Amino acid sequence: MTEARYDVAVIGGGPGGYTAAFQAADLGLRVALIDQGAQLGGVCLLRGCIPSKALLHAARLITEAEEAESWGIHFDKPKLDLEALSRRTQTIIGKLTKGVQTLAASRKVDVITARATFTNGTTLTLSGDGRRELSFAHAILATGSRPAIPRSLTLDDPRVMDSTGALELPDASGRLLVIGGGYIGLELGTVYQALGAGVTLVEALPHLLDGADPDLVRPLHHRLRRRFHAIKLQTKVESLEASKDGIAVTCTGPDGKTTEAFDRVLVAVGRTPNTEQLGLEKTKIVVSPQGFVQVDHQMRTAEPTIFAIGDVVGEPMLAHKASHEGLVAARVIAGQQAAFDAVIPAVIFTDPEIAWCGLTEDAAKASGRAVTIARFPWAASGRATTLGRNDGLTKLMLDAESGRVLGVGICGVGAGDLIAEGVLAIEMGAVAEDVAASIHPHPTLSETVMEAAEAFHGQPTHIYQSKTSKR
Ligand code: NAI
Repeated sequence: MTEARYDVAVIGGGPGGYTAAFQAADLGLRVALIDQGAQLGGVCLLRGCIPSKALLHAARLITEAEEAESWGIHFDKPKLDLEALSRRTQTIIGKLTKGVQTLAASRKVDVITARATFTNGTTLTLSGDGRRELSFAHAILATGSRPAIPRSLTLDDPRVMDSTGALELPDASGRLLVIGGGYIGLELGTVYQALGAGVTLVEALPHLLDGADPDLVRPLHHRLRRRFHAIKLQTKVESLEASKDGIAVTCTGPDGKTTEAFDRVLVAVGRTPNTEQLGLEKTKIVVSPQGFVQVDHQMRTAEPTIFAIGDVVGEPMLAHKASHEGLVAARVIAGQQAAFDAVIPAVIFTDPEIAWCGLTEDAAKASGRAVTIARFPWAASGRATTLGRNDGLTKLMLDAESGRVLGVGICGVGAGDLIAEGVLAIEMGAVAEDVAASIHPHPTLSETVMEAAEAFHGQPTHIYQSKTSKR
C-alpha cells in the first residue's frame, strides 16, 4: 500500500537529517523524517558527541580536583559510581532527544520509526512494524556512519569495544589499550584515564591527530604523555587474541613485534558510511569505492530527486557539517539559491582542546600561497595564567600581503568555543587589522586571537620580539 506522498522524505534522524527536515518544513514543505531507531538524534546525540562530551566533563571535574592541590585546595580521591554517571548521561540524552521530538511535532514533521530502502527514485519501502511504501517528490539521505573495525581487529569478546561500547562505561579500571590516535581515541582515552584506567594508546602514524597542525597537537601530546601510561607512535596493532589474562595484543613498531595483555581494548580506527542495504542500486545514485555517495555542491546525487548529506557524502564526518549540508539540501529542494561553500571548524574535545578552521599552516604552504603565520603562546595570556593553563597556542594563517585571515588554529582549554571567532573572520573576509582592532574583553582567552592578529602589523602587547629575532 502506498501512503500519502511527501514533498520531502528525510532518511536518518541525526543532526543532519533533523536539521534538513525542520528547514524543509519551515519552508512550507510536507516532510517525513524516517529513522530506524525509536529516538531522534542519531549517533551524535545518542552515542557520540553528546554522551562523550558529558563524560569528558566528568573527566575534567576529576582532573581539576586533582590539580587543585597546587592552589592549596585538597580533595580526597574521588569515589566513582559509574552507574550513576551513566544514568546522568542517559538523562542528558533523554532531555535532548525529547527536545528534538517536540520540535519535530511543532513543525508538523511526520516522524516515522522504520527502516527505509529505496524502491526507485520516487518511492521508499518502509519496514519494521509491517511493510509499506512511501512516495516522495524529493528525498534526503542522511544515514550517517558507524565505527569501522577491520577484520584483524575484530574479536567477539566484550572486552573489545568500539566507541559505542566504550560510552556505556562497562568498567574504568585496569589496563586499557586504545587503538588509534584520532578524535575518538584521544577523547575517550582522556575519559578512561581520568576515571582510573591505565591507558596505553597506539597509533600507526608517526604523530597523533593526522591532518591537525603539529604546533597545536604538541601541548596535548605533552600533557597526555604525563597522564597516559604510554603513547606508542608508528605502532600498528596487527591482531587481538582473547586469553584468561586479558586481550593479548600483537603490535609492530619501532621495537619490532611485541605482544602485551590488556584488560580492555578500545578500537577507534575510523568510521565507515552507512550506504549499504538502502536500495541505492535501484536509483541512479553513484557510490565511491570507499562507500561515499557522490554529490555536487548543492548536495544533489546523480538521481535528480535524491539529495545526500552528512557522513554518507564524505569527510570530515562532523555533525555541524551535516547540519549545514542539511540546510543547503532543504533550501535547494524548496527552490532557493543555496550551495555548500562554508568553512568547517574541527574540534577535538580533549584537555587541552584543539580546534582549527580554514587553512592549516602546512596546507597554506603546500598551496604555494605566501602566508604570514602569527602566533600567540598562552604563556603570555593573563587569563590562561589565572586558570593555571598556559599550555596553549593561538595561531593565525594570514595572507602575506593583505593580512586576510585564511586559517585559525587554537590549542588550549576552551579552544572549541574560541574557534567560532576564526570561522566568522574567514567567512566575513576579515583581515588581521579587523581582528586586532576589535576590542576583546579582558581578561579572557579570546584576547589571544586579538594579540595574534596584532603580530601582523607590529607587536602583540604582551610579547616582545626584537626586530632581528622576528621571522
Ligand atoms: P580517525 O580517522 O580520526 O583516527 C583513527 C586513527 O587510527 C588514525 O590516526 C589511524 O592512523 C589509526 N589506526 C588505524 N589502524 C590502526 C592500527 N591497526 N593500529 C594503530 N593505529 C591505527 O578515526 P576515529 O578517531 O575513529 O574517528 C572517526 C571520525 O569520527 C573522525 O574522523 C571524526 O570525523 C569523527 N569524530 C569527531 C569528533 C569531534 O568532532 N570531536 C569526536 C569523535 C569522532
